[in-house]
Amino acid sequence: MQNDLFGASEPVGQAESTEVLAKRLRAELNQHGYNYYTLDAPTIPDAEYDKLFKQLQTLEEQYPELKTSDSPTLRVGGAPLPEFSQVQHSVPMLSLNNGFEDEDVFAFDRRAREGLGLTIADTTTEIEYAIDLKFDGLAINLRYVNGVFAQAATRGDGYTGEDVTENIRTIRSIPLRLHTDKPPAILDVRGEVLMFKSDFDRLNQRQRDAGGKEFANPRNAAAGSLRQLDSKITAQRSLRFFAYGIGSLEGAALPASHRELLEWYREMGIPVCEEKANVRGPQELLDFYRQVQDKRSQLSYEIDGVVYKVNRFDLQERLGFVSRAPRFAIAHKFPAEEALTTVLDIEVQVGRTGAITPVARLAPVFVGGVTVTNATLHNEEEIQRKDVRVGDTVIVRRAGDVIPEVVASVLEKRPAQTEIFRLPQACPICGSQIVKPEDEAIARCSGGAIKCAAQRKGALFHFASRKALNIEGLGEQLIEQLVDKNVVVTAADFYKLGLMALAELDRMAEKSAQNVLDALEVSKSTTLPRFIYALGIRHVGESTAKDLALHFADVEALMAANEEQLLRVNDVGPVVAKSIVSYFADALNVELVRQLIASGVNWPKIEKVDLSTAVFAGKTLVLTGTLPSLSREQASALIEKHGGKVSGSVSKKTHFVVAGEDAGSKLLKARELGITVLSEEELLALCAG
Ligand code: IVH
Repeated sequence: MQNDLFGASEPVGQAESTEVLAKRLRAELNQHGYNYYTLDAPTIPDAEYDKLFKQLQTLEEQYPELKTSDSPTLRVGGAPLPEFSQVQHSVPMLSLNNGFEDEDVFAFDRRAREGLGLTIADTTTEIEYAIDLKFDGLAINLRYVNGVFAQAATRGDGYTGEDVTENIRTIRSIPLRLHTDKPPAILDVRGEVLMFKSDFDRLNQRQRDAGGKEFANPRNAAAGSLRQLDSKITAQRSLRFFAYGIGSLEGAALPASHRELLEWYREMGIPVCEEKANVRGPQELLDFYRQVQDKRSQLSYEIDGVVYKVNRFDLQERLGFVSRAPRFAIAHKFPAEEALTTVLDIEVQVGRTGAITPVARLAPVFVGGVTVTNATLHNEEEIQRKDVRVGDTVIVRRAGDVIPEVVASVLEKRPAQTEIFRLPQACPICGSQIVKPEDEAIARCSGGAIKCAAQRKGALFHFASRKALNIEGLGEQLIEQLVDKNVVVTAADFYKLGLMALAELDRMAEKSAQNVLDALEVSKSTTLPRFIYALGIRHVGESTAKDLALHFADVEALMAANEEQLLRVNDVGPVVAKSIVSYFADALNVELVRQLIASGVNWPKIEKVDLSTAVFAGKTLVLTGTLPSLSREQASALIEKHGGKVSGSVSKKTHFVVAGEDAGSKLLKARELGITVLSEEELLALCAG
């Protein structure tokens, strides 16, 4: 058992009184709860915990006088309240000034320096700042009286909030009794209640299954869960808490700095976030901001920026407040990932495999750092579930580089007389029937690349794309024109293009046309994996194409393979095998392959590897940093030639990490997980046998 702060290991005598038994069960359950929820290191199986829990519950039912306010049995919620009562904050809960630009951060530092009487020019006395994440949840005050959780209140207007004690009690990671022998008489812990992304996804799945309302984002879900008058509902919602500040404190000395305060909290079992830093001066603030921005999407919870605070409390006090915000702190926000806009129209796009994707045309809106005018609605099922309609006000989300999506409609803002959106029955491009197999989420145009120009364009664009034949300069717009003018029908037609046909297209001239012809010539020398990938066979992505190339070593063998033979290929399952067989069952596709080869498309012969003896057979490797002599592509090719797979991220399934100069977080992760790290030299030696 981890640090025994709960007095759980009292002697278990035969004649243990019910009182001692209740105390022991409480202590044990609190300890296990802390290990599980705060340390993330469970110490007993769930079933065992449930057994102890039930035992304590029964005991407390039998002897109500044994119930205490720190009993974990109270965490399941109590009787519903008629309404929330009001709580006056003894120290107001104020808000922070926001900054967005680097200049705002320099200005904040300048004001702090001025306030402390430091000269602006003197960079040897940079202020020490504590940086925390800015959690995207709800601010809460937790009051502990003599170390026991006594009350929780929302921020409200900053002066008066709502009493949400019973709801907060259900949050398992919040200690009901502080882990200390010398608790302060009064301690107001301030922090944020939030919902982790995974808990949010699970909650929405549950809501969906039950036909209930879904939440637009984890923040709304956290708010909705906390504002329940029935704490039994809150208890089922997996909320979390991170502390970041303090209100009243009586009967204990205040630590000297913000960071020491949070450290004190941690020792007392109060959850604090591990992502943090102490730095000096504004440049280091910005460096950390960028670091956090890079890993934002990998965090388990949502944040909307970082918070900078002058670390020392005596300096904070000297700086004080201006109107309702501190001069010693600022929130440096990230560009918002969500924004409101209206749906002007809903159209459907036809992809290269005929997949029909509904797309919302939006009134332009600035979100995630760019102006967005279109957002995907994924598929028919999604659009029906979300019930997005033309005219609706919607929440649009663009996180990182992910394509923008419509999260939800704001029903309160729906205009009168809107219509439920229905997918068209015919392809808007070629008029063929749109079909949707029972077992698939995606509807498709049944026209195929021959009838449907949209599919043709998609297939041709895929053929020319970077990971396929990589034909530079042959972009979407050019392909669009070539198809519309009927100059190109299949990829084989690319290689029949003449200078004039290209030069007379919009935005083309002789020089650019020649460039395309040169690029086409270059593209003829390719590799078999690229060639297979370029064909655009459904379910055959880059990695499957590589597996197929290695296995069959030539395209004729692949074309002749039946399902049974295909199933023997690494990572090829029945769906993929069927798809490949049906692709080559079409004589037009076989003809395409023959024509491409006849036009000069070629690749180096593949040496078949004997997978039973290859050094990296069945192994996954990750490359990181700059290798002294091999390029990333060369190293990958070498590994693949010796039976290995190259993956982009380090996990428990990684067998080796090959590290060069300036290797970063992947190397750290490898060390953490105890994965063997190879240098280039060692890699070459292993490959050489
Ligand atoms: S410190 C004097 N630290 O942001 C105000 N606030 O605009 C002290 N928030 O209502 C607040 N993460 O809900 C602080 N690490 C953090 C925070 C944080 C989120 C929220 C909080 C507050 C708002 C301030």
